[in-house]
Amino acid sequence: SGMNHAGMRMPAADLTNAAPLASLDVLPKGLPLSTLPVLANQSSDAQLFKATLTAAPMTHEIIKGKPTTIWAYNQSAAPLLIEWTEGMTVEIELINDLPQTTTIHWHGLPVPPDQDGAPQDGVPPKGRRMYRFTLPDDCAGTYWFHPHPHGITHEQVFRGLAGVIVVKPKHKDALTDVKEVHWVVTDLKLNADGRIAENDANDVMNGREGQFLLVNGQYQPSLNVSEPVRVRLWNATNARFLNLQWLGESGQAQDLLQIGTDGGLLTAAESHSTLLVASGERVELLLSPKESKMSVHASAYNQGKMGGAKPTPATPLLSIHASPMDKGLELPAQLRAISPLGGATVTQNVVFSETMSMENGVHQMNFLLNGKKFDMQRVDFTSKEGEIEEWRVENTSDMDHPFHIHGGQFQLQRREWIDPSRGSPTAFSLAWKDTVNVKSGERVVFKMVQKHKGLRMLHCHILEHEDAGMMANLNVV
Ligand code: C2O
Ligand code: CU
Ligand code: CU
Repeated sequence: SGMNHAGMRMPAADLTNAAPLASLDVLPKGLPLSTLPVLANQSSDAQLFKATLTAAPMTHEIIKGKPTTIWAYNQSAAPLLIEWTEGMTVEIELINDLPQTTTIHWHGLPVPPDQDGAPQDGVPPKGRRMYRFTLPDDCAGTYWFHPHPHGITHEQVFRGLAGVIVVKPKHKDALTDVKEVHWVVTDLKLNADGRIAENDANDVMNGREGQFLLVNGQYQPSLNVSEPVRVRLWNATNARFLNLQWLGESGQAQDLLQIGTDGGLLTAAESHSTLLVASGERVELLLSPKESKMSVHASAYNQGKMGGAKPTPATPLLSIHASPMDKGLELPAQLRAISPLGGATVTQNVVFSETMSMENGVHQMNFLLNGKKFDMQRVDFTSKEGEIEEWRVENTSDMDHPFHIHGGQFQLQRREWIDPSRGSPTAFSLAWKDTVNVKSGERVVFKMVQKHKGLRMLHCHILEHEDAGMMANLNVV
């Protein structure tokens, strides 16, 4: 559990290997936000989605005159958008033109385990494989896809491999007629020569953050808004905690209206002054600015950081120019019905912890799940298909860890401090989620039903921690 920082040798934050932002001749800020390139459906059958995703290196100019080699799907530097409808059958072929083994994981979707791109199902360089599954009728929401190969997920994502998925409802939802915009947030860290920086000691410990926080692959773009818009936001960074805040022209914070989570709409809209979106999480927001200029910031968040590391500073994401709207949109009191899961018959316990060990005279952090490092061959948990389970996830380490489990969506039941003298439980609402931040010292309890037999993963979604071993196998029988 809690460790003593006093004796630790922390890498100083200024020893980071990234080139200082001011020294880089970056492409201009403030360009209009692009819409995401959409992955085309090769099938003419409305029930079938057929496509190919080729993962390969490509060259992309981010710093003037110093091209960067990134890894991308279908040679698209901007994240691809896949649009599906509930009930659709999907056939996507992965072609691996990378120098490493890869997979595609359909983060958040209830696809069968053998189609879910687990580390046990790696596709070697020059290899191909077909992913085939049918979406259930109740999965409208905001998902994404990314590689999940053993030990190198963090590297493949920081080199650029991630895309997003919107599953539309078969029948209209409360906001189907509202204009939609997509904000995919990624983190890019470059050397002064334009190459993607390797992870330094601080990245390995705290998770990687770059000099550039990108939205749809663009640096601090701007968006014109002339009517209320439904925003879907993905935190597709390796490790950054996005503490979202909307600032008005004069710099004062404005309320954010949240309408959805990972697994679709909330039952009712909620307003927040800041909204923490950890790596892997998604939110839906309704944007109807009351001023003509606004900006979206990721405000400082330091709870997620170990010892000597500097807190993540506030970072502008994008600026908004608007025709001010006094009224916003009339939302129905109920956006959607969600039935709470019934009584659980089984309890599963998860503990995130860190330990220090000495290897070759160097201090090394170990990121553990139930005291162990991930082993691909070991089954750590067993669940029964169709059974309602209660999962208790405790974080006894000194930094936050976003918890994620494969196989579908869960419902939060409680968020409380392990040590009750730290305060009362945190409020949350009935919603479907697949990723939840577990603060240092917190216990998060949720209910979930696994609907397919086979092997699932659960892990911290700070990808550096996942690859360091903060992950486990769940066998559904
Ligand atoms: Cu987003 Cu196991 O992954
Ligand atoms: Cu996942
Ligand atoms: Cu972690």
